[in-house]
Amino acid sequence: MIKAVTGTKDILPSDISKWKYLESVVQSVFKNFNYSEIRTPIFEETILFARGIGEETDIVGKEMYTFLDKGKTSITLKPEMTASVMRAYIEHSLMSKQPLHKLYYISPIFRQERPQAGRLRQFHQFGAEAIGSESPILDAEIIQMAYDILKSLGLKDLVVKINSLGIPVVREEYKIILKRFLSNKKNKLSEDSRKRFDTNILRIFDSKVESDQELLKDAPMLINHLDKESNNDFETVKNILKDVHIPFEVDAKLVRGLDYYTKTTFEIISGKVGSQNAICGGGRYDLLAEQLEGKPTPGVGFAAGIERILLACENEKTLNLPEEKLDFYFVTLGEKLTEKVYEAASILRRRNFAVEFDYLNRSAKAQMREANKLNARFVIFFGGDEYSSGFLSLKNMKTGEQKQIPMDSLENVALD
Ligand code: HAM
Repeated sequence: MIKAVTGTKDILPSDISKWKYLESVVQSVFKNFNYSEIRTPIFEETILFARGIGEETDIVGKEMYTFLDKGKTSITLKPEMTASVMRAYIEHSLMSKQPLHKLYYISPIFRQERPQAGRLRQFHQFGAEAIGSESPILDAEIIQMAYDILKSLGLKDLVVKINSLGIPVVREEYKIILKRFLSNKKNKLSEDSRKRFDTNILRIFDSKVESDQELLKDAPMLINHLDKESNNDFETVKNILKDVHIPFEVDAKLVRGLDYYTKTTFEIISGKVGSQNAICGGGRYDLLAEQLEGKPTPGVGFAAGIERILLACENEKTLNLPEEKLDFYFVTLGEKLTEKVYEAASILRRRNFAVEFDYLNRSAKAQMREANKLNARFVIFFGGDEYSSGFLSLKNMKTGEQKQIPMDSLENVALD
């Protein structure tokens, strides 16, 4: 049997209502904050992500789906949205149209990671990017939107972690301090962390190996070496989050897996999804535009993993969605009236009602069962004596009331 590729998932009709509900919550929160939707292609030139996310990151180094197309161009299925959105922003000179762009997206994302619960190879993110302003108010706005969406979905077991990675000059100075601190401990680090010591030393803080964390216990922290501006901005973000009642923790070890961050970064963790517990992450990226050969343009954003959020919703039992309802179900009686039923159903369908009937020649009893299963509000009996005299029988499934309606009244029958 041919199966879906490891790490990919079908979203079956029985799950779609949850996805649609989540998408409607996401869209309504973004609308309230005046964000506009952007859609970018599924694949891009590989160089975009290599430059944008950073050559030394796990995403670019190990996880991208990259191939040569027939024209020998290196193509990559998008492993995140921020670089693509910034590419589109630069390519279409959006800055010349207005100084600040507040954009959002819902998109499939591809990363060749080891699949496990909450970790897929094709997954979906929603997210937002505010491009064109250095104001830390936008950092707080981005965090608030992420938090408000998760709260609107009913999630309770959430921890918001924030940190500041400062500006690059300060970060480079700090890396030297950290290197000095770790140099006589290097051979005790795990193999991965030893590699990171040379390539991307900050990422050592993200190590899951206990002995690495033990070695880092008294390490100097970047947050204590920040420049004045980063510090002030971080204070503003914290004050606004307090004003809008978003509980948060400062986590000085939060380093994120993408290299473009400057100043504020954050993650939201769920206690209800197992080891892959980051359901959302983001931060400021004031130098990304230049790395992509655009004019210097500050930006801040976040992305959240839809599958992980739905898992958290399932585990916290938050999504009690109203049942889908069908407006009319035609029960065909006796004669071979399927074509006539089809025509009658079409009249109602064209009037924007949801209508179903039996395509399988089932008994009237089986058709009634189907009408109940589909939550039909009304059943119309099609056939029998009434039909021969030009009438149909209309049953209100909630009250049980049944009345006769002339066949030609389908053009104006009301749902009440
Ligand atoms: P990220 O932290 O790499 O950030 O991903 C954001 C979210 O995507 C994660 O918190 C997680 O919920 C979900 N996610 C990541 N990998 C997987 C996976 N393999 N399976 C399922 N879900 C996953 C970014 O992508 C940045 N572009 C966020 C950002 C936007 N920063 C600034 N603007």
